[in-house]
Amino acid sequence: MTLTCSEIVSLAVLAVIGLRILLRVGVLVWRKLIAPSFGLGIDLRSQGRWAIVTGATAGIGKAYAEQLAGKGLDVVLVARNVAQLEETAAEIKQRYNVQVRTVEADLTEGEPIFAKIAKATEDLEVGVVVNNAGASYDHPELFTELTDERVSTILRLNVTALTGITRIFLPKMFERRKGVLINLSSILSYIPSPYLSLYAATKAYVMKLSYDLAAEAEPRGVTVQCVSPGIVATKMSKIKKATWMAPTPEKYVEASLKTVGIEVCTTGYPIHFLLAAFVQGLCCVCEKGTIWLISRTLCNLRARGLKSKEKKMKSSE
Ligand SMILES: NC(=O)c1ccc[n+]([C@@H]2O[C@H](COP(=O)([O-])OP(=O)(O)OC[C@H]3O[C@@H](n4cnc5c(N)ncnc54)[C@H](OP(=O)(O)O)[C@@H]3O)[C@@H](O)[C@H]2O)c1
Repeated sequence: MTLTCSEIVSLAVLAVIGLRILLRVGVLVWRKLIAPSFGLGIDLRSQGRWAIVTGATAGIGKAYAEQLAGKGLDVVLVARNVAQLEETAAEIKQRYNVQVRTVEADLTEGEPIFAKIAKATEDLEVGVVVNNAGASYDHPELFTELTDERVSTILRLNVTALTGITRIFLPKMFERRKGVLINLSSILSYIPSPYLSLYAATKAYVMKLSYDLAAEAEPRGVTVQCVSPGIVATKMSKIKKATWMAPTPEKYVEASLKTVGIEVCTTGYPIHFLLAAFVQGLCCVCEKGTIWLISRTLCNLRARGLKSKEKKMKSSE
């Protein structure tokens, strides 16, 4: 049987497409399953003696601080509440036998606070920086209903502070030709997020900045990673009990740290990857319907949030 010219071309096109799909699936399996499971990421201890974590006294930040200490790194904890800083520092020192330094800092205060952090760490070889501190809404809300104060806090913490801290430590990492910078974004940065629009937009900034910085940093020996969690059971998400979809911060960070050096942009947690892929798939099939569904869900959450706020106000009168 001889093939016509057009049949040969069609077969060749199909073969190229098939090969490309196979390659993509292979890379995905490697990045999501094989490499993290076999511990093929970066040895964080080799990047420098110290790690600094912002928002290190609760939730995801505290879990990063603890797990980095567990790997033998000395840690600098940054947050506002002094009592919680001291408590976290004592816990980490006792459990992991590492050095801990604390910096009381409200990161929304801008330049003077960045200078304070730079001074407090100038004598340290900081190998790992986790830009974790972030602010969100109390509950989903219309952009037009946000207070000026809330807008300013979200922008100053999620955008300005993350940029400021990066500008302190990245140049030193470039000089030493090693280091890891981890920036916390959110899954909302790339799926529809009506009623959380400002928060999601700031997290999209984090993702874009990290993605491009990663390319600048790589030839200089430095790794930049953007971590975009789905829901994690913390104070911010107001989820008290962990579920299969909303893990504890400890479980989340354990999975996420395994991906450093393997993935530039990651959800950090396999279930969150599947969730994001599902929503993106839905968007491909019917974008308007997906936006409608998410809007409805977030609108319901908004109504519940407003109701519980009203209840609290009434009971405090
Ligand atoms: N939890 C989730 O479901 C989820 C999902 C996606 C993305 N994320 C992102 O993950 C990061 C951590 O979230 P989380 O849920 O772990 O938060 P969290 O439990 O509310 O903890 C926030 C931490 O940040 C500190 N902090 C808050 N405002 C600060 C400020 N102005 N200056 C310095 N430190 C400040 C807090 O301590 P003080 O109050 O003492 O300052 C605390 O240590 C955030 O960037 C968030 O956007 C979280």
